Amino acid sequence: MLFKLFIVLSIVSRTHLSSSDEVIVETVDGDEENNVENIYNENIAPVEVVRTVTRNNYENPINYKNIYGRQERSQFNNPFMELIANVIGTQSGYKESDFFAFLRDEYPLPRGLQSPLPEYDFVIVGAGSAGCALASRLTENRNVTVLLIETGKPEMLLTDVPAIAPYFQSTPYVWHYYMEPQPGVCLGMENGRCFWPRGNAVGGSSVINYMIYTRGRPEEWDRIAAAGNYGWSYNEVLEYYKKSEKAKLDGFEKKPYRNRDGVLPVEFVPIKTKLIKAFLDAGRILGHPTVDYNAPEKMGFGKVQVTMSMGRRFSSAKAFLHNHKKRPNLHILPETRATKVLIDPQTKTAYGVEYVRNNVLHRVTVRKEVILSAGPIASPQLLMLSGLGPRDHLNSVGINVIQDLPVGKRLYDHICFPGLIFTVNETNISFLESQASDIHAIVQWLKNGDSAISSPGGVEGIGYIKTPVSDDPELVPDIELISIGGSIVSDGGPGGSKAVRKGMRITDNIFNNAFGPIDQTNTWSAFPMLLKPKSFGSIELKDNNPFSHPKMYGNYLTDPRDVATFVAAIRHIQELTETEPFQKYGTKLYPAIYPTCSSLQFNSDEYWECAVRTLTATLHHQVATTRMGPQSDPLAVVDPELRVHGIKRLRVVDTGIIPEPISAHTNAPGIMIGEKAADMIKQTWNI
Ligand SMILES: Cc1cc2nc3c(=O)[nH]c(=O)nc-3n(C[C@H](O)[C@H](O)[C@H](O)COP(=O)(O)OP(=O)(O)OC[C@H]3O[C@@H](n4cnc5c(N)ncnc54)[C@H](O)[C@@H]3O)c2cc1C
Ligand SMILES: *[C@@H]1O[C@H](CO)[C@@H](O)[C@H](O)[C@H]1NC(C)=O
Ligand SMILES: *[C@@H]1O[C@H](CO)[C@@H](O)[C@H](O)[C@H]1NC(C)=O
Ligand SMILES: *[C@@H]1O[C@H](CO)[C@@H](O)[C@H](O)[C@H]1NC(C)=O
Repeated sequence: MLFKLFIVLSIVSRTHLSSSDEVIVETVDGDEENNVENIYNENIAPVEVVRTVTRNNYENPINYKNIYGRQERSQFNNPFMELIANVIGTQSGYKESDFFAFLRDEYPLPRGLQSPLPEYDFVIVGAGSAGCALASRLTENRNVTVLLIETGKPEMLLTDVPAIAPYFQSTPYVWHYYMEPQPGVCLGMENGRCFWPRGNAVGGSSVINYMIYTRGRPEEWDRIAAAGNYGWSYNEVLEYYKKSEKAKLDGFEKKPYRNRDGVLPVEFVPIKTKLIKAFLDAGRILGHPTVDYNAPEKMGFGKVQVTMSMGRRFSSAKAFLHNHKKRPNLHILPETRATKVLIDPQTKTAYGVEYVRNNVLHRVTVRKEVILSAGPIASPQLLMLSGLGPRDHLNSVGINVIQDLPVGKRLYDHICFPGLIFTVNETNISFLESQASDIHAIVQWLKNGDSAISSPGGVEGIGYIKTPVSDDPELVPDIELISIGGSIVSDGGPGGSKAVRKGMRITDNIFNNAFGPIDQTNTWSAFPMLLKPKSFGSIELKDNNPFSHPKMYGNYLTDPRDVATFVAAIRHIQELTETEPFQKYGTKLYPAIYPTCSSLQFNSDEYWECAVRTLTATLHHQVATTRMGPQSDPLAVVDPELRVHGIKRLRVVDTGIIPEPISAHTNAPGIMIGEKAADMIKQTWNI
């Protein structure tokens, strides 16, 4: 059975990859060809090898068997999950079976080049949402050479399957970061720690995320601009959202704030349950219009928009790099880790990057700029390792300070509560993994992209609300509701992957006590996500070893208004389910009993506070760690053109620059930031 499935997958993956290759039309005219020669002739010398480094402490080796181990895998009576487990899930450390290597995308250096050059115009660290867009746009001009360095591997056929997104949180396709322990949150997670996975792939977090496409409300960008960030008002950022976008949204794509001609597909999910209709109908009854939730005019509820095409994930790498592999001036190095930015301490000018590839430390220099796009955790870490950060902190870990800067002083995140689950009385109404991933569903997806495995983890709708707790003077939401055609119990049962609960690191004890009786049954849930947390955390180095993970402090729910906002949101969701569109399915709140909250009365405010503190789940939107702001902003790390304050030829271009929490999941904002930065950089260098 497995073997047959494998054959099908391989054939289709071949045709899939090659058919998209056919779309590539790299127009390299004669003029550009000449310049290509120049690039190569000038710099034919091999890259300088500085020294060999060992990988001893690489990533505190993770044993994937503990998460998807053999015994457990043999319980899968689901061929699809079994295949995935075979391909990626059970390898310990970073050696994956080469037997499956052909399922993976590749980014060889163009023109048969064996090693990268010693110097480029630009070196970009991190091929994530922002880094891919930036690299692609800068190399549109064939005179401009770019080296793009990325620790992760390229995507593979399975990363395209939307329904298994949560599974990748337990594989080497993510950085296994954990937040520092914080009493009173993540009580139901393994070791009481909050898990902070980030993408580790060519494509970054856009390879493993839920593909939800959101832009943030106009008022929010206008406020960011008003704080001294010229160029970042809503109308200005809108141009860059539009520039990427290739929208196909049942007519919405014709609106002036949309674009049909970009490279990043934005579509509705091709399949749905009846529960999305209930969510939208109930919303209208309570005064929330059904809208395009990315439209500037109106706040409301809508069907989820995703970065997908034909039911397949469209990562930033697919959109921006995949079709440009042959560009002679764009060199991509997967499985390569930057360890330091080289900065002249006298002139305070960045001139290159140190990186480790195949255990060898190399150096590459730049003619123009170094750009960090390593994301909101790794970019501040690299800045600090390079001598840019809070003076006392850097001194305490033995790093010479080149520039005292508030790197990592602020960190905002979006947390949500996945435990508000309602039972429904109709069978076959929710997505259930056991039904979604049979061989028929897989073949259907491969052919048309529209079976249940094209659902992005069951997400169907987005709703913006402003709770009574909000003190915002404008109509800006403080909660996003994420409507699911099911819940965190949907992938359970004897043959289920349990990928969602495992991705969140919820303990079996907590999960089974709270939800055991309704595991793998028909349910509906909406995750309330706290959009405007008043609590904020920070990030610091653990030590001066570039292979260590930094120390991440979430400091969640330390402001009581955050708890109050969650409780208000939970009450609002309960009201939604009391309307007729939900009541016709007998929708009923499931009385989950958490061992952590057993002394509290079910459904009291105190109970919900305890429940939120038990299942405190991040949606992975950490921002502000390399905050953007004018010179006068005491928390700013980069200026409005994303140049590091006080340092020449160094920018940060990723979601860490977003100065404060916005009403958006951060993939589209990250891509927008990459697009906008490309134009700013082109302007600086007149290219
Ligand atoms: C599980 C999960 C689900 C999510 N779901 C959604 C969603 O549905 N919708 C949405 O909009 N957002 C979602 N997000 C958030 C969104 O994907 C990220 O905010 C966004 O991708 C971040 O973009 P970025 O460019 O800042 O960083 P990233 O995309 O994270 O890219 C950073 C890259 O830098 C690389 N890197 C790091 N350190 C180094 C180094 N030293 N050397 C070389 N390379 C390095 C990393 O491997 C990574 O590839 C999700 C995130 C996660 C983790
Ligand atoms: C590339 O450089 C050449 C030579 O300097 C110049 O003539 C040409 O216009 C440049 N092309 C672009 C697209 O900038
Ligand atoms: C539910 O779906 C299963 C499998 O698709 C099918 O066998 C069953 O008859 C359905 N039940 C109802 C009540 O529709
Ligand atoms: C579900 O419950 C509703 C409300 O009680 C009822 O009208 C409906 O008939 C029930 N449906 C089924 C399939 O039992």
